[in-house]
Amino acid sequence: MMMTNRSDRKASRPGPCAMVIFGAGGDLTRRKLLPALYNLAVERLLPEDFAIVGFARSFDDEEYRNELWQDARTHLKGDVDEKEWDWLRDRFHYVAGNFNNPDAFGRLKKKLAEVDEKHGTGGNYLYYLSTPPRFFGEIPRQLDEVDLARQSQDNWRRLVVEKPFGHDLDSARQLNRELLEVLDESQIYRIDHYLGKETVQNILVFRFANAIFEPIWNRRYIDHVQITVAESVGVGTRGGYYDDAGTLRDMVPNHLFQLLTLSAMEPPISFEADDVRNEKAKIFGAIKPIDPDDVLTYAVRGQYDEGTMPDGEKVPAYRAEPNVPKDSGTETFVALKLLIDNWRWADVPFYLRTGKRLPRRYSEVAIQFKRAPFILFRETPVDQLPTNELVLRIQPDEGINLSFGAKVPGPSVQIGDVGMDFCNADYFDGHPATGYETLLYDCMNGDAGLFQRGDNAEAAWAAVTPVLDVWSALPPRDFPNYAAGSWGPEEAAELLRRDGRRWRRL
Ligand SMILES: NC(=O)c1ccc[n+]([C@@H]2O[C@H](COP(=O)([O-])OP(=O)(O)OC[C@H]3O[C@@H](n4cnc5c(N)ncnc54)[C@H](OP(=O)(O)O)[C@@H]3O)[C@@H](O)[C@H]2O)c1
Repeated sequence: MMMTNRSDRKASRPGPCAMVIFGAGGDLTRRKLLPALYNLAVERLLPEDFAIVGFARSFDDEEYRNELWQDARTHLKGDVDEKEWDWLRDRFHYVAGNFNNPDAFGRLKKKLAEVDEKHGTGGNYLYYLSTPPRFFGEIPRQLDEVDLARQSQDNWRRLVVEKPFGHDLDSARQLNRELLEVLDESQIYRIDHYLGKETVQNILVFRFANAIFEPIWNRRYIDHVQITVAESVGVGTRGGYYDDAGTLRDMVPNHLFQLLTLSAMEPPISFEADDVRNEKAKIFGAIKPIDPDDVLTYAVRGQYDEGTMPDGEKVPAYRAEPNVPKDSGTETFVALKLLIDNWRWADVPFYLRTGKRLPRRYSEVAIQFKRAPFILFRETPVDQLPTNELVLRIQPDEGINLSFGAKVPGPSVQIGDVGMDFCNADYFDGHPATGYETLLYDCMNGDAGLFQRGDNAEAAWAAVTPVLDVWSALPPRDFPNYAAGSWGPEEAAELLRRDGRRWRRL
C-alpha cells in the first residue's frame, strides 16, 4: 500500500474511497465532519470517486436526514457553493441500525457493495467512529464479523477513533487490545483534532525548517516553557459527560501533551508517521513520573464559581450548570509542572494550564529564555529587566511573537520590552476550515503522521495516572476555588511563584 510523505506530497485528490460515519446524526458530524468534507470538495481534495455512508439509529426517518443536512449547512463559513454542496449530498447514503445489531452490519456490507458499484469507490473504506466511546470496541468487532475490517492488496480499510481513548491507563490499554484484535495498528487513526490546526503543525516547521532556533532550543538557553489552553466557555450542555471526565482527562493527555511533545521532541529523521511518533514516544518516556507525595505540589486543580466575564456577562458556577451535581468535585481547571529528564531539557520545567471560564479563549506555547547577565546594567533592578520570550500562538490570531529588550530613546539607558510579531493572516490566505479537513484528507491518503499511535496514547495516560490516583483518593475540599472570568485558583499562581516565576499575562 502506498504511503505518502507529508514533506513532498503535493495536494492532489486522494484515490477512490467511501467514508462510513458511525453516529452520523450526532453533533460532531453536523458541526465538523460534513462541513469539513464540503470544504475539501470545494478545494478539489476529495476523491473523484467518493461516497459517504451514514450509520445511526434515527436514519429511517427522512425528515431527520433532511434536518441533519440543513443543520450541517449552518456550520459552513462564507458563501455556499450550491454545486459542491449538492455533489456531496448526492453521494450520501445511509444505514439505519443499532451498533449492537449484527443484522445492521450485514445491511452495511450490502450498502457498501452498492456504493462501490454506483460511485466506483473500489472497496476502500474509511470508518469514522463519531459515536459514544462505549462503542469504540464493539463497532470494529462487528465490522470484522462481516469481513469488513480486513484489508488486502487491492483495497484498504482504515478506522478513525475520536477521543477519548480511554479514561485512564487501564481502559486505554483495554481499548487498544480490542482494536488490535481485529485491526493492524497501521489501520487505526486516533484523532486529536488539535493536530488539525495549522499552527500546531507549524510548531515542527518553525523548529526544523529554520536553522536559527534549534541551537538555542535547549536547557542552556531556555529557562522554562509555559503551555496554556484557555477556554472562556463553561461546560454548557456537556455537563453530564464533563462531570465524569474533568479537565485533566478531557484536555491534558491529548491536546496539551500534543503541544508539549511537538515543542520538546528531537528532530525526527523524516516526517513519516512513525519517525515523528517515535520521537514523541521518547518524550513521553522522559517525562519524570510525579511522585504521589508531590502530586499536591506539582498539580493544581480548580473549579469555577459564579463570576463575571470580561464582557460583563454574569455566569453561573460549575455546580449550577445543567446535569452537574450540586456537590460535584470535578475539576474545571488544571495546572501542572512537568520535568522532562533528558539531555535537552533536564531541569527546565514545563508548566501547563488549561481550564474553563477563563477570561478569554486563547492557546499558546511560550518559550521563556534565560536572563542575560546584564553586567552592563548593574544600576537597573534585574527583576525589572525583560527576558526574551518566544510565543507560538495557536488560537485565535495564529502567529509567532519574539520579545526582547530595546533602548528607550533618551539620554539615560532605559530598557523597554519590544516585540517582533508574525501573524499567519498577514501572509497566507485563510481557507474556511473546521480543523478536520487536513485530518480527513490525510486518512484518505494513508498518512498517519498527525494521529496518535497506541503506545503514545497509553504513555500519555501513564504520565497523568499519579495525579488521577491522588486526586481521587483526596477529594478537593475547597471547591469552587476560582471565580469565572479569572485565571484560575491562587494555587496556580503559587505553583510558579515558588520557583521564582510567574504565568504570562495574557
Ligand atoms: N461534538 C464534538 O464537537 C466532539 C469533539 C471532539 C470529540 N467528540 C467525540 O466524538 C464522538 C461523537 O460525539 P457527538 O458529540 O457527535 O455525539 P452525539 O451527538 O451523542 O452523537 C452520537 C451519534 O451516535 C449514534 N448512536 C448512539 N448510540 C447508538 C447505537 N446504539 N446505535 C446506533 N447509533 C447510535 C446517535 O444516533 P441517533 O441519533 O440515531 O441516536 C448519534 O448519531 C464522541 O466520542 C465524542 O467524545 C465530539
